[in-house]
Amino acid sequence: MWPIDRPPHWVGRTQELAVLRAGAEALRRGEGTVVWVEGEPGIGKSSLVAHALAEAGDPEWDIGWGIADQLTEQLPLRPMLDCLQVKPGSPDPRRAHAADLLRKQRLGLSADGDAGYQLAAAIDQLRLLLIATCRSAPPRPEVQQLRTAVARRGGAVITLGPLAESDVAALVAKMLGTPPGDALRQLTAQAAGNPLYLRELVDALVRERAVRNGPAAEISVAWDQLPPSLAAVLNDRLSSVSAQTAQMLRTAAVLGARFTVADLAVLLRRPAWDLAASLQEAAAAGLLAGSGAGLAFRHPLIRQALYESMPAALRTTLHTEAARELAATDADALTVAQQLSAGGRPGQGWTRAWLIRAAPALTTQAPQLAADLLRLELEETAVGDEAWDALVVCLVRALLAVGAYQEAIRQASRALTAMTDPARRGETSWILAHAQWGAGSNDDAISVIRQALAEVDLPRTGRPGCWPCLRRSNGTLPAWTPPTRSPAGR
Ligand SMILES: Nc1ncnc2c1ncn2[C@@H]1O[C@H](COP(=O)(O)OP(=O)(O)OP(=O)(O)O)[C@@H](O)[C@H]1O
Ligand SMILES: [Mg+2]
Repeated sequence: MWPIDRPPHWVGRTQELAVLRAGAEALRRGEGTVVWVEGEPGIGKSSLVAHALAEAGDPEWDIGWGIADQLTEQLPLRPMLDCLQVKPGSPDPRRAHAADLLRKQRLGLSADGDAGYQLAAAIDQLRLLLIATCRSAPPRPEVQQLRTAVARRGGAVITLGPLAESDVAALVAKMLGTPPGDALRQLTAQAAGNPLYLRELVDALVRERAVRNGPAAEISVAWDQLPPSLAAVLNDRLSSVSAQTAQMLRTAAVLGARFTVADLAVLLRRPAWDLAASLQEAAAAGLLAGSGAGLAFRHPLIRQALYESMPAALRTTLHTEAARELAATDADALTVAQQLSAGGRPGQGWTRAWLIRAAPALTTQAPQLAADLLRLELEETAVGDEAWDALVVCLVRALLAVGAYQEAIRQASRALTAMTDPARRGETSWILAHAQWGAGSNDDAISVIRQALAEVDLPRTGRPGCWPCLRRSNGTLPAWTPPTRSPAGR
């Protein structure tokens, strides 16, 4: 279900709604459409989608959604998988099968942006209405490319501008039950047609009892007592909760836009039931909302305001601490890895042990993130350290999973000049040969295998079974079987 509430008082956006309505109509006829909605923060992108979906709602349709934010930056496929509800163990066998295929092919969550393009390109053959919402001027080139691809393929691009003055007045009138008078209109013009700012501003005025209702609604306090910016208005909302709840919200902001009560309880070192009162207070203050099995900030800007109210150095320390606490409770590898990546502090002993333990699961779920973290950790680990061999093998496997063959070859070749343990050397040679095969250097792959076979001194008859034949495998690496001597000797 779409997590954003339909605005209680809807105004304007007639033309934009017509575009989404047309998409819904096409869906009814069995045709797919892509719509891209962009605009500044709080301008009403998510609300437009929520309103259109609520209007067009059809019990026959499944509505899925996914969110991309800083913490999911290295997982470009994730929002799409969340959106299509492709996950292992899904009650729908087709979705479970798709998740299984992705896991087996080690595409994990990090297939490159191609997945988005391919879906957009194939849209007219699918019964799917694909709507993307995005803040204006996305800084990442991948997002800009995706937007260009949508426009080039005939998808609709909606750019949301400020609400018209008459819509602003209509929204204020609906919120207060009375049309605004001149002074109030002048004040609400400060919101520059941004409905988030406008709603927050009017809510703040009501909270501060600064509105007097007569034939027209007017402000009853001096101008200088009024909050000058959206940040100040959001802070005002945040200051309406107790200190304990504010502290809980700051911790939650470290976890991301969406989080689970269980993870929050771990970070706060409090039992989950102990958080109930604060969570209720935050929900009542319009700061948090339930979202599926977890919780989410009611608006991304609320999380942003909380997050940015902490100094950058404190934030990175909190991310690192969160990673450690969550790892100690065996939390999901991806959640821990995202925190570790945001903390950016490798080389701490526990990070090394955790990465070696979690690397297989993480490489399946998010190979790019796994490779980035392992690379950083390896840089902090001395060659010859007990963990070095294990880390480098994990890194090369992750590189292979993302298709970074040249780097995999470089790292594996370097590792072979330092490794002494025969089993590790065998495993590394095996992965190196795969990377060379992937890079099209078949002769090199064969010579690495020959050399490794000579090194491990295998029985002639045992070789084929010990070293499965190389084959093109869409990135799948067959398990490496350590060679064993035959009882009869050579
Ligand atoms: N047309 C509208 N009529 C009334 N209220 C609206 C309208 N559009 C948006 N709002 C209100 O404005 C607020 C912000 O809207 P919304 O969350 O949709 O913005 P957004 O563009 O998705 O922001 P972000 O970039 O942060 O995701 C919400 O509280 C919503 O209820
Ligand atoms: Mg939004």
